[in-house]
Amino acid sequence: MTKNVAQLMGDLESIGRDPLRGGYSRPGFGTHELTLLEWFVAEAESRGLDIERDRNGITWAWWDLPETATGSAADSGDKPNRAHAIATGSHLDSVPGGGAFDGPLGVASALASLDQLQEQERNGTLRRTRPLVIAVFPEEEGSRFGVACLGSRLITGAISPQRALALTDRDGSSFADAARAVGLNPEHMGADPARLSGLDAFLELHVEQGKFLGKDPLGPAVAVASSILGHGRWRFSFAGQGNHAGTTLMADRHDPMIAAAAFVVAVRDEVSAESGARGTVGRLEPIPGGTNVVASRVDVWLDVRHPDDVVTAGLVERLHHRATALADAEGCTVTMSEESMTGTVNFDGGLARGLLNSVERVAPGTQLLPSGAGHDAGILASVIPTGMIFTRNPTGISHAPEEYVEDADAQHGVDALTLALADLLTEELQN
Ligand code: GLV
Ligand code: MN
Ligand code: MN
Repeated sequence: MTKNVAQLMGDLESIGRDPLRGGYSRPGFGTHELTLLEWFVAEAESRGLDIERDRNGITWAWWDLPETATGSAADSGDKPNRAHAIATGSHLDSVPGGGAFDGPLGVASALASLDQLQEQERNGTLRRTRPLVIAVFPEEEGSRFGVACLGSRLITGAISPQRALALTDRDGSSFADAARAVGLNPEHMGADPARLSGLDAFLELHVEQGKFLGKDPLGPAVAVASSILGHGRWRFSFAGQGNHAGTTLMADRHDPMIAAAAFVVAVRDEVSAESGARGTVGRLEPIPGGTNVVASRVDVWLDVRHPDDVVTAGLVERLHHRATALADAEGCTVTMSEESMTGTVNFDGGLARGLLNSVERVAPGTQLLPSGAGHDAGILASVIPTGMIFTRNPTGISHAPEEYVEDADAQHGVDALTLALADLLTEELQN
């Protein structure tokens, strides 16, 4: 049975609701992400796709070539030839209290596009030269283990398995344990160039996370990505003297919370002075975190983004100096550690132009749009031609419950993805 994208998104409506903020909390390798993954597998299997879970926890759903495909990668043996595949997909995990669309829209749109493409193949208007595979990446947000795009970083070798496996979540569980709990073997994780070499392109449809398309409700509902802003995460640990809230005079304190609070303001000031930069402290943890306890330590997570990676490095260095001075002033200390850094990614120009041409046919006036948000597509771009399509979000808000997509715009996104995939899937093979 085929479903449109709104129906597919509707299937997910009740899964992983966040009781505190609203929206959804679906951390990587957690129950809700896994429930969504089970839904995806059932939907993909009902469309005749063959499911593989790779050694890094990425799920691949294959729409192999029909036996009759000519001049193509089709194979007469038992095993389908999966070379020269076109991949599409996204992720199913979310930030804490995130929107419904960041990730799942790309997966639901891929399934809805598949319905359209399968119908075209049945009625003879689509003659593929390549297989299609829908990929679902785990822990894209890094909201559980701290490093975003963990699946795509592992498969491309952008993170070593040793480092990834040692990451821990807020409860102290390691990524190795979480991987084992879902049936993966940590010893087998790591770069998988053989799998990636079978992919000729990856295309990710994603909800737009800024305000560009929403400004003109009558304009095109979709855009094509030009680039992803360089971004990184750093942890600052301010340490002081834990103590009693009642017996410790103000003058006697070495309170790391004061240094941390001043640092948050310093981030706002320092980053605002750097044109094009963004800096965020979205997470701060006092140890131990008691109302009547002067904290012993406060951990502060900093997210910094700028198109020029050298500017980002300079900004972070200045912030490190500011943190040291602020800690000194309170008789505290601070240590900084880099948790991740991904340079600015410019997407493959040829693929982006091809996407614009394809998408123009359903969305005249479609434009190229830089992304301020990170994506698995940005990690994969270092090894395969990669592109992205954005679907309008009228609120311009993301990583929050107010993120939104109208059903009609979601359908435009699917139609654009179908055209783009059809063009890629029917391209002559070059070898
Ligand atoms: C992920 O969406 C990010 O940009 O942090
Ligand atoms: Mn996303
Ligand atoms: Mn996100």
